[in-house]
Amino acid sequence: MSKDLSLRSLLRDTALSPAEAKILMAHVLDKHYQLPRSALLSRDEMTLYAEALADWRDLEIRRLNGEPIAYLVGKRGFHNIELYVAPGVLIPRPETELLVEIGLREINRLNGPVNILDLGTGSGAIALALAYESLSAQITATDQSFEALAIAQKNAVLLNIAARVQFLQGNWYEALDKNMSFDIILSNPPYIASQDSHLNQGDLRFEPVSALTDHGSGLTCLEIIISGAKCHLNTNGLLAVEHGFDQSEAVVALMKQADFHDIQTHLDLGGHYRVASGRK
Ligand SMILES: C[S@@+](CC[C@H](N)C(=O)[O-])C[C@H]1O[C@@H](n2cnc3c(N)ncnc32)[C@H](O)[C@@H]1O
Repeated sequence: MSKDLSLRSLLRDTALSPAEAKILMAHVLDKHYQLPRSALLSRDEMTLYAEALADWRDLEIRRLNGEPIAYLVGKRGFHNIELYVAPGVLIPRPETELLVEIGLREINRLNGPVNILDLGTGSGAIALALAYESLSAQITATDQSFEALAIAQKNAVLLNIAARVQFLQGNWYEALDKNMSFDIILSNPPYIASQDSHLNQGDLRFEPVSALTDHGSGLTCLEIIISGAKCHLNTNGLLAVEHGFDQSEAVVALMKQADFHDIQTHLDLGGHYRVASGRK
């Protein structure tokens, strides 16, 4: 008797969790048959043709080996946009939406054309979420990684907002002309200490090391970004940076040292201080 290879049996017999299996199978159905996710139920008797079945088996094994779902399906939702993601960029995290919210609040407060800098843009998450939400925002996004910038630029084109975002390559502020100044600087830099065992766990094993760790104490990039911000901020301009759950005190101290005023700490949805902001 031939083996039952219907969607229903493939989903039933997999070692993946039901939720993850459905995401990956929906991806296969979209890619090979241009079918919507609802086909998982409405077409659950259908049998995959050989190429689609091979794709499913490949995704199944790779996920069981730990590869992040976002890389396997090539996309991740962030704030109000969907971003193309690949192994050259960090997978955008929900806690980073806090920086977007802080940026949007400041854009509303300024109530006019606003110049924004996103340092270490990765997939373009922060820059593009802001450009998508706010027509008055003129955004510059930088990264040291050429691979990340290519992905961010691709996302800007896919979202049809490439005209309002300028991408520059370089080491933090070195990517900018000396005279460039902004109303808002936002950054989610690498802040995991090099010795942190989380680097060898879960999704992080597959993400670019240069997006995760500063290869030091965890505070090196934050220190560079905070100490250099005043040279590129307009008067009363806002700097907001994401940091680790246990780095709030250290980051606030760096902001005080750099003479920022109106320093505030911001909680993520998990109740941890994950962002600090201050004004020039
Ligand atoms: C934690 S990831 C954040 C990516 C994106 N902003 C996000 O929130 O999803 C940090 C980013 O900083 C970039 N980066 C690391 N070192 C850098 C440097 N010296 N200068 C500029 N960018 C750097 C990495 O390539 C990476 O894209």
